[in-house]
Amino acid sequence: MDLTQRPRRLRTDGIRPLVRETELAASDLIAPVFVDATTDSRQPIESMPGHERVPVSEAVARVEEIRETGVEAIILFGIPESKDERGSRAWADDGVVQEATRRITSETDAYVITDVCLCEYTDHGHCGVLEDGASEDPTVTVENDETLDLLERIAVSHAEAGADMVAPSGMIDGMVGAIRGALDTEGFEHVPIMSYAAKYESAFYGPFRDAADGAPEFGNRRHYQMDPANAREARTEVMLDVEQGADVLMIKPALPYLDVIADIRREFDHPVAAYNVSGEYAMLHAGAEKGWLDLEATAYESLLSIKRAGADLILTYFAEDIADHL
Ligand code: PBG
Repeated sequence: MDLTQRPRRLRTDGIRPLVRETELAASDLIAPVFVDATTDSRQPIESMPGHERVPVSEAVARVEEIRETGVEAIILFGIPESKDERGSRAWADDGVVQEATRRITSETDAYVITDVCLCEYTDHGHCGVLEDGASEDPTVTVENDETLDLLERIAVSHAEAGADMVAPSGMIDGMVGAIRGALDTEGFEHVPIMSYAAKYESAFYGPFRDAADGAPEFGNRRHYQMDPANAREARTEVMLDVEQGADVLMIKPALPYLDVIADIRREFDHPVAAYNVSGEYAMLHAGAEKGWLDLEATAYESLLSIKRAGADLILTYFAEDIADHL
């Protein structure tokens, strides 16, 4: 054996911390919060243990709980009191996300990011305005350019309510440029956009769709979200968002797409975010419940790996639990 080649020399307890390449910090994490206009008390989300839908009246308290763990950034999702064909509660000045944002930003120092999408607000559950005949024909779905107008209104209404950053998640072509233009016109040049730039049509969103009540009533999201088989296409998606003025580039989901995160990290200099989605959270909980997995260890390893792959920011339902242990 060639004794000049012994990597194990660098694995003793004393030196391991000195040669660590990746460090996870609470400041890397963004915690999702669900605000629900249909309830006046906290409602547990069954498929996402430890998470709740909270009424607007509890939003500040919920955010303060998160901040106590050291996590300062949150992303808000809304469940409106009613849904309609165009998702009009999404841009209402007194909508659930707008109200919650107003309270959280005036009463706490949290950094508030808002999800900009229509699927929780439309009665059909798609992320935009439907094309004629969409319910009968699965090849017809969302009318791209009409949807852009609505996304602009949503983003501006969030900024008016005080959102620190907006995060369009609908995978509608041109959404970043449209939102950038609308924000700038309305005097919100300072509000950055975190684009869900490469969002895959993934089966790992299941628990979220229960939580936010945003599953499509018919068809699927294959015509606007990306094919899980494609990695190179993610570069095109990201490049288009960069050209349109995206400030932060998100890849979603995270664990099944570490190759994409690593590739986008290499190719672009913007901050890269990864969304460790509801299914990634639920599967570790299910495994732990059976006694087959150590929840804290697997959650930590997951987030560390997402960071190692190249993510600067991680949106995760584990934010509070892991931050508490860092
Ligand atoms: C809405 C949206 C979804 C998620 C975040 N924003 C659901 C979807 O696209 O169906 C999923 C998040 C998760 O699974 O944790 N467009």
